[in-house]
Formats: sequence, structure tokens, C-alpha cells
Amino acid sequence: MTPNALAGEIARRRTFAIISHPDAGKTTLTEKLLLYGGAIRSAGSVKSRRSDRHATSDWLDMEQERGISITASVLHFDYEGFRINLLDTPGHQDFSEDTYRALTAADSAIMLLDNRKGVEAQTRKLFSVCKKRRLPIFTFVNKCDRIGTDPLGLLDDVQAELGIDCFVSTWPVRHDGQLVGVWDRGRSCVRLYERTDDHGSSRPAATVHTMDAPEVEEALGREGVERLREEVELIEIAGTEPDFDAVLRGESSPVCFGSALTNYGVDVFLERFLSIAPPPAARESEEGPVDPADEAFSGFVFKVQANMDARHRDRVAFLRVCSGAYDEGAEAVVSRTGRTIRLAQPQEFLARERGHAANEAVAGDVVGLLDRGNLRVGDSLAVGRSIEYPGVPRFSPEHFAQIRMDEALKRKHLDRGLRHLAEEGTILLLFAPSITGPVPIVGAVGVLQFDVLLDRLEREYGVQARLERLPFHCARWVTGPEAVIDKVANAYGRRRVEDADGATLILFDNEWTLQRSVEEEKELTFHDVQPRGVARA
Ligand code: G4P
Repeated sequence: MTPNALAGEIARRRTFAIISHPDAGKTTLTEKLLLYGGAIRSAGSVKSRRSDRHATSDWLDMEQERGISITASVLHFDYEGFRINLLDTPGHQDFSEDTYRALTAADSAIMLLDNRKGVEAQTRKLFSVCKKRRLPIFTFVNKCDRIGTDPLGLLDDVQAELGIDCFVSTWPVRHDGQLVGVWDRGRSCVRLYERTDDHGSSRPAATVHTMDAPEVEEALGREGVERLREEVELIEIAGTEPDFDAVLRGESSPVCFGSALTNYGVDVFLERFLSIAPPPAARESEEGPVDPADEAFSGFVFKVQANMDARHRDRVAFLRVCSGAYDEGAEAVVSRTGRTIRLAQPQEFLARERGHAANEAVAGDVVGLLDRGNLRVGDSLAVGRSIEYPGVPRFSPEHFAQIRMDEALKRKHLDRGLRHLAEEGTILLLFAPSITGPVPIVGAVGVLQFDVLLDRLEREYGVQARLERLPFHCARWVTGPEAVIDKVANAYGRRRVEDADGATLILFDNEWTLQRSVEEEKELTFHDVQPRGVARA
């Protein structure tokens, strides 16, 4: 690819994730974005999807049984000249770590709110991650086909709760309480939708009018038009002015109102989002910022998933390309190990169909690489140089359990399963020393991860294991004199363990004991993530 062609390709990339609280309508909106992008022909209603069809991004049987989307996957499609990479993220809060990681690979985020609930717990948590990364955030207030909280009041709440400026980009237009269209502030026009009888599985026909057009009066009545005029005036007087530079700095968020279920307002939202959302920008690395149009390929792994397809016992590492174009066959340096690997043919992902080679992946894209155990979450790869992107952070586990198994002969299978799932980042694998050899202990951010672990050990590794919950709720890597580590770890309510690399951690029964140790034991350093250079080679 010539430098110009590369720059042109990168400029049309939009890589983003959707953050929301469960049930706000993320699956529905994702389906609609795929529908608009032509990636699927018709969107099934969530209900029919739950009973007999499954959302395109559901991978595991268990997710389908439970009707929740657990693992993050990547959907990409072309829309009006843009190449869209949608990092699908799990809705369940026990899997927020997956979402957290997906956000490290995103250039912007869509914040989806329920019009009756506004900012909810999970939105708040994920928003704080976006804020730290200064990601531009685009807000879509969903379910406006139902009457919800007063829209301006909702905006005030978002500003007060999250500390981000919000400005109206589109506004719900109602007639007799029914959503009939949206006011498009940027274009100063009303978009009216035609009602469909297919429960939103296709795009509704839309017509665009100025406020004084007869079609608008016909749809809203004279009084309705007057009310809309007043609302628009109020937005201009009392609302925040649009500031697109502030959006790009992550300080202000354009807000669109609509309904993912009926598709009303989704088209304008997508247009606005694509016109403002940034293409891939320079990324910070240990060696300084790396320009996306830099021809030398580099990227980092933000997710590893094993056994996505029962027929192929392999793992897929999801790599976000940060610079250049993915160079199949080239030798890339893995910064963590200093080893060189040959870049394999990337896999393209949309639903369960795999096996198509991705047509050239450039900065901003995500490629899935078949991996035989060389790559881990957080690894940076680069061709012709060594680049290290900041590690992909992980949440500290809050639940711990010891693994028990009756079939001693399957111990090897268990070990392999645990190792794989730990490398995916599903669980933190630890070992407690004992006379009979190290005892595996698993740590997880949410308890549902334990269910997934047992389920996957059985399905994928043929191992029936049990978990015995342990009374610990936090863990820290520790460095310092051995004697002091032992003294702290031997106190009541703690335990000394090692991670799979042989680095030492202490488990604590609660946050308070941990904080006390941090304050009292000045000779020890407590780390949230595995510190460099402490792992046994
Ligand atoms: P999630 O992925 O964020 O968890 O949400 P999901 O899309 O699964 O939607 C959660 C529920 O909200 C679903 O209802 C869905 O139909 C509904 N929903 C999504 N968008 C809208 C919208 O724009 N308007 C309205 N009124 N509802 C919406 P459910 O009761 O769980 O399923 P179903 O029985 O309706 O299919």
C-alpha cells in the first residue's frame, strides 16, 4: 500500500464500543447498526432472537442459553465510505473487565441510556474508564418510543452525575405522546418516520422537512408544531452550545434521542456520530507517540479467546492495529518476550462465520489471529522495531475459590484448561503452596465468571470440577524482603500465593486489612498489576 493509500484507509476507520447498563438496549442498537450497514438483512426482535435465533455476536452456548452476551467480539462493516469497527461488549456487569479492555482498543464510545433510567451503575463505571482515556463520547438516549424522563432534565442529570457537558444533537418529536420523528439540530430540520409493522426489523422510510413544511403540520397538528418550536427555542437558549472540539477532547457529548427498537432516530445518530467521531490518532507507547500512518506495523492484544469454535481447538488473539498495515507473513517482535513471531493470516469476524482473510487491516482495525499460546492480553507487537504500548489494565479480582476435582487422572486437562482460560483473562490463576504440590486457586471480578469457568472446563476440556469459595476479597502483588512478605501473609485473614509466572501475591479478607498493611508495611510495595521483572523466568 502506498503511503497515501494507507493514510486514506486510516482516515475512514471508526473504531468504537458501546457502553451501557444491562437492558438499556445495546444488543438491539448493535443489531440496528449492523442492519443499517448492510451487514445483516433483517434485525430479529430481541425476543425472537432469544428463543430461536441468536445475536450475531453471541459466541458461547452458555451465553445463548442465558440470553446474555458475555464475551466481547468485533463486528465490522462498511457504511457510506466509512469502515466501522464495532467492539461489541458484554452487557453483564460480571464481565465488565472485557468491556474495559475493549475500551483500550476503541477511539470513541457510544453511551447508551434508557430514557427512564438515565445514568445507571454500570454506565458510571464504564464512563469513568472512557474519561480516563479521554475518549470522545456520543450519547444515545434510547427507548424514546415510550415517554421517559423530561429530556432536558435527563441531560442535566448526566452532566451532574458524570461531569461531562452535554448538548442536544437531536430531539424527540411526539404527537399525542407517540414518537413520530426527531428534530435534527445541525440541519435545522424535522425527520419524520413512517410506522412499520415489522417490529423494527427493517429501516422505516423517513422524510426530511423544514419546521414550517405542511407535512410537519400534518403529522403534529398546529399545536404540536408550536410546541416543537418552543422546545427548540428552549434548547437554543437554555441548552449547551455544540462544541465539536470539546467532543474530541472527551469534555462534551452530543446527545441524540431515539428508539433502537423502532429505528427512529438511529439513522441521524449514525450520521452524526460518523461525521464527528475521530479516526485513529497517534497512540502513546513507551517509546513515545506512534503515528497511525507510520508505515511500520504495530499493535497490541486486548483480548484472547480460546475454543471459539468446537471444531478448531485453537485460540484467537484480538489485536488492535495501531500503526501501518497488518503485514501477513512479516516477522513481528512481541515486546514482553522479545521473541519474534510470523504474522499469520488474520481471521475475519462477523458472527460465527470465519475463515475469510481480512482484506487489508490498517491502523484502527482489529484482527483476530490464530494463536498457539504465544500471545497474551496486553502484548505489543511490532515489525522491524520493538514498541511497547501501555499494558491493558485489569480489574482486581474480588472473589476467590479453590478448585477441586475428583478425577485425578484428568489433572492435566484441568491444568491446561485453567492455563488457557487465565491467558484469556477470564480468571486470574493463582497457586497456594501445599505439601502435596501447588493448589490452584482462581480469582474473578464477578461470580458469574466462576460459572463460566466451570461450564467451559466441562465443555471444552472434559473436566468436571467444583469450586470451594475462599474468604478473600482483594489481592495485591507484593515486592520486598521475603521475611516481611511472610510476616504479613501469615497474619489472620490473609494468604500467600503465586501467579502462573511465579510472582508473589497476598490475598486479603477485606479492603480494610489490605489498606492497613499498605500503611504499616513500608518495606513492601503493593501492586495492582503484576510488576515488571518479578516473574520467575
Ligand atoms: P442490552 O443488550 O443492553 O441488555 O439490551 P437489549 O437490547 O437486550 O434490550 C433490553 C430490552 O429493552 C428488550 O426488551 C428490548 O426489546 C428493549 N428495548 C431495546 N430498545 C428499545 C427501544 O427503543 N424501545 C423499547 N420500548 N424497548 C427497547 P425485553 O423485554 O427484554 O425483550 P422483548 O421481550 O421486548 O424482546
